[in-house]
Amino acid sequence: MSKVVVVGSYVVDLMSRTPHLPKPGETVLGGPFKMGPGGKGGNQATAAARCGSEVTFVTKLGGDVFGREALAHFQAENVNTEFIKVDPNQATGAALIAVDDNSENSIVVSLGACGTITEAEVMEAEEEIKCGDIVLLQLETSIEAVVTAVKLAKKYRVPVILNPAPYQEFPKEILRDVAFITPNETEAFELSGIEVKDEHSALAAAQKIHEMGVDTVIITLGSKGAFLYTGGEKGDLVPGFKVEAIDTTGAGDAFNGGFAHALSNGQSVREAMTFANAVAALSVTKIGTAPAMPNKQEVKTFLLHLGAAK
Ligand code: RIB
Ligand code: NA
Repeated sequence: MSKVVVVGSYVVDLMSRTPHLPKPGETVLGGPFKMGPGGKGGNQATAAARCGSEVTFVTKLGGDVFGREALAHFQAENVNTEFIKVDPNQATGAALIAVDDNSENSIVVSLGACGTITEAEVMEAEEEIKCGDIVLLQLETSIEAVVTAVKLAKKYRVPVILNPAPYQEFPKEILRDVAFITPNETEAFELSGIEVKDEHSALAAAQKIHEMGVDTVIITLGSKGAFLYTGGEKGDLVPGFKVEAIDTTGAGDAFNGGFAHALSNGQSVREAMTFANAVAALSVTKIGTAPAMPNKQEVKTFLLHLGAAK
């Protein structure tokens, strides 16, 4: 079984459906409310675990009811919770999410405890990282946590996937020690200064990011799929799957969790991207983030049905 170590955020998702996203100063009468486990780190950990990886999740929770529910969620998902810290003096992070009738969303995320993960707290997971096949990171924690995880992964030559989401400034030197980076269009623009509108601009942005030291650049393009670039004059679009989207929140996390799983199981980068596209497609057919992640069997059936199974 492949071992994926996720160092990242946990926040509780507080999600309301709404006919349209509120404008500044506007109160909208919304539809159903749903609460559930979320945060990019937690979603990616859940996705990889459901795909069948052995997952260790390093994060920090508050000493509140949200934190207790989070622990119960990860235990139920067979995620190793040994390195999930609980700080009784802090609040668990929370995301206020609105999803409209076109399944567009807007999110405000308050990181709470996971925004204060320290170097020492990540160092405690050194043995886990040492034995990992992949380290999976986002930018939804303290940057100190990200930098420390990259340092440890480098020490033990464990490949790093960095999902630079949500974008915040970080020391670009770490990119030399990142094997795979997976920005969406917005994050690719933040990194490269190039607006990604099509394959042509995706290539230009990917080349810029590649020059910053990352071997493999994967720009996710929503339902279109993901653009792969590893150097040279050309890149490759790995097409996504068409499904009826109900809630696209967390689709990027589904992609990253699925990609980490497939890659650490020895699939080629392209194969792993197709697998990740399938995980993402299935996740948007369900409401919610972590709870919407498909399991191994669902992904297998979906790919088989499309005649693309491995
Ligand atoms: O990527 C989606 C996630 O981002 C949500 O679960 C929410 O918690 C936000 O942080
Ligand atoms: Na979803």
